[in-house]
Amino acid sequence: MKRNKKGIGDEDTKSLMPQDERNKKSLKIECHKLSCFMLTLTIVVSLVLGNLFLIYKDDLSSFKSEGLISGEVRLLYEKYDLNSDGIIDLNEFEPLAHKFLEAKTEHNYDEEISDDDEFLTLNAYFEPLDVTKLNINKYEFLTNSDSLKSLKNWKEPNRAVLNFGCKDFKSFLPQNINDIKVGHVWDLIPRLKRDNNQLSNKRFNPPEPETHEKTLFRLLQMFHKKPFLLSRFAPQGTSLVLRAKNKNYLDIFFRVHAEFQLNEPPYFPFWFTPAQFNGRIIIAKNASHIEYFNLYLPNSKKLNIDMEWLNDMNENMEVDIGFVNRMEIVASMSSLKSTRDHQESDKVTRLRVSETFIKPINQERYENMLKMMKWDEEMSESDALIELEKSFYPFKQITYYPFLDAFKKAQSLNKLVHYILLWGALDDQSC
Ligand SMILES: *[C@@H]1O[C@H](CO)[C@@H](O)[C@H](O)[C@H]1NC(C)=O
Repeated sequence: MKRNKKGIGDEDTKSLMPQDERNKKSLKIECHKLSCFMLTLTIVVSLVLGNLFLIYKDDLSSFKSEGLISGEVRLLYEKYDLNSDGIIDLNEFEPLAHKFLEAKTEHNYDEEISDDDEFLTLNAYFEPLDVTKLNINKYEFLTNSDSLKSLKNWKEPNRAVLNFGCKDFKSFLPQNINDIKVGHVWDLIPRLKRDNNQLSNKRFNPPEPETHEKTLFRLLQMFHKKPFLLSRFAPQGTSLVLRAKNKNYLDIFFRVHAEFQLNEPPYFPFWFTPAQFNGRIIIAKNASHIEYFNLYLPNSKKLNIDMEWLNDMNENMEVDIGFVNRMEIVASMSSLKSTRDHQESDKVTRLRVSETFIKPINQERYENMLKMMKWDEEMSESDALIELEKSFYPFKQITYYPFLDAFKKAQSLNKLVHYILLWGALDDQSC
């Protein structure tokens, strides 16, 4: 752009000040000594005047904005100006940036179950965090009214009962369905590659799930409306293993490492990370029928929930470990036809059954029925779970022995004992 030689102090010189600066270099080449001096003078003076103008303008804009900026925008601004200093800095901008990137904040992926599909009624159970088992922050838990508010208020599942179509579970099936071997492990949500596997703490809304992720997303939403299918740290993702198969059915075990964001602005992020979820699905190879489904947080260890939260966007995370006794989804019974023919005098009409919820049958009886299923090929449940573990933890490739057994084993092999004492478990998220 060519320099506009106008009088010092006129309107254009003031507002063009930054351009003057930008063009300084190229201009100097064009000018003679005298005009060079004049130019320098102009720049200096216009800088001074420009600054004065900016100061004046600052006053003006803060004065003007009271009237021009709408109240709701102001409120929104204040919501993200977490320390109320009138400036949104980079840290405060980050959750906002993720909001832009995620765009969609209301995650509802319910779809109608088609007439030719069967449906499954699933029931979610959630018992709130056992406060008596909190370790270091009992006092804070009881007194902190900000960061922990949503945790304290989370007393029941987000959606206690929900119908799913059997076809929704197609994403749980392996690719090579006809020649898949018992013990084969595959991924529904693959973990991130090693060098960039840490995701931001400063997010409030989960990314939109891909088509094949929607069913898992909806399942976890039964507990809480904001599940993150990929947890921030390893172990991440969801893997499945084939435990047994016959001509028409697959018995699949799976393991989920996901987490939940409990807070919304103006509160800081609070991450609630279950140690793991285990699950089982017995499904027809063509996804036309589901015999069984469950998903649960194991409660056999003393601690099974990792919690991390911020009290300030610039600070390190606060951490505690807790215990939830029950976080579980179970099917009421095996899947049923979505519609039923219904006779009314001489007329036959189709009745939508999938719009009603089926009451759960006795779980013990249900599980006993499963034991009667005949499989052509199978492995034990515990072996199937070990295969899953190995896929999440490379260190599980070697065998670990209980304390006393290790010495006997070491003696028989004439080897030394390598002894590790841990406060928590290394093979889930509770550590
Ligand atoms: C699915 O497989 C079952 C056998 O398990 C069969 O009876 C049924 O006709 C199949 N359905 C479709 C839509 O292919």
